[in-house]
Amino acid sequence: MQTIPTQHVAIALGERSYDIAIGSGLISQVDSFLHDTSRPDALIVTNTRVGPLYAAQLQAALAPCHREVHTVVLPDGEAFKTWETLNQIFDALLGRHSDRKTVLYALGGGVIGDMTGFAAASYMRGVPFVQMPTTLLAQVDSSVGGKTAINHPLGKNMIGAFYQPQRVVCDLDTLQTLPRRELSAGLAEVIKYGPIADLEFLTWIDQHVDAMLALDTQALAHAVKRCCEIKASVVGQDERETGLRAILNFGHTFAHAIEAGLGFGEWLHGEAVGCGMVLAGRLSARLGLVDAAFVDRLERLIERAGLPVKAPKIDATDNAGRYLHLMRGDKKAQGGDIRFVLIDGQGQAFVRGAPDALVREVIDAHTSP
Ligand code: NAD
Ligand code: GLY
Repeated sequence: MQTIPTQHVAIALGERSYDIAIGSGLISQVDSFLHDTSRPDALIVTNTRVGPLYAAQLQAALAPCHREVHTVVLPDGEAFKTWETLNQIFDALLGRHSDRKTVLYALGGGVIGDMTGFAAASYMRGVPFVQMPTTLLAQVDSSVGGKTAINHPLGKNMIGAFYQPQRVVCDLDTLQTLPRRELSAGLAEVIKYGPIADLEFLTWIDQHVDAMLALDTQALAHAVKRCCEIKASVVGQDERETGLRAILNFGHTFAHAIEAGLGFGEWLHGEAVGCGMVLAGRLSARLGLVDAAFVDRLERLIERAGLPVKAPKIDATDNAGRYLHLMRGDKKAQGGDIRFVLIDGQGQAFVRGAPDALVREVIDAHTSP
């Protein structure tokens, strides 16, 4: 495994600004990123998969910085991104009379990060938290930008808050234990940044997708840094998604319908995003916004990353109707009108509606038999 010098990306949000550190061995060096000398208590939030791999290492590194360090281990998986699991974090905090200076550490993928962030936003009306993302998806996307949430059976990430972490620490070494399917899911969010913001980066991804799948640390380091730079720039301009930030949801309108339609956890979030980008690209082409050849290229890249490019059937009788119904509940929808993130093939994205009939055609043409 190569050792990568630590790099930093700044996210500029006034008094909520913070640093994203990206490098090797950072879990063990986490104390060097912490500057609070008052030694508040800490709670590591992790899950049954990641805890046994990295919690002891983090606990040891945090010991000099905190009066007491405790760990709560949650069940693993998207299906547990619920009120009941969130409550386990509150149980751990209240059970120890944790005060409002207690720092939460989210050690895991996006599910742990989103839930820990929401717990931090709401415990005693707000306590500090640090993101320690351990999946590619979380390092390039979910740990940055302050979106926190849990799922509701009727919709993905529907209950949550905007709440920024104190810092993000991406230890690239953790990616070495990531299962291949999860790596591919993370690549979906990496690929996303190309068509919406940086065509040069899209070309770089095309050239390095195999290296990333082979867990080449140098390639992964470049991808994580470039994705964080793009995300930091977008979030710095539009923290609460009043406009621009919506472009980060390219593919997600379809993806959230896939996840809710199949039941959370059936497809990985990144798999749904990969397929969702194909559908949103095809819809952009049908609307005359982008050349079909650009979408062909995007689809080939998504497939090479090990992701599904055909949508799953989510209803036996009216499949496209079920997609439309679920997408009307998307957070971008206005007055029941679905709004999609669409692309132009020139590295830009925008939010627009589309006729239901056209959306149906796209879904019908790209659903698995
Ligand atoms: P995840 O958190 O479920 O992690 C994927 C799997 O990998 C889990 O089983 C996890 O325990 C395991 N894992 C994590 N790190 C590991 C490691 N280093 N080695 C071995 N196994 C490891 O899923 P994810 O893909 O990281 O995140 C998806 C979630 O992120 C979704 O809930 C999605 O809604 C959310 N998300 C949020 C944002 C945001 O801006 N807040 C953005 C994108 C996605
Ligand atoms: N993942 C989309 C966003 O953070 O806005």
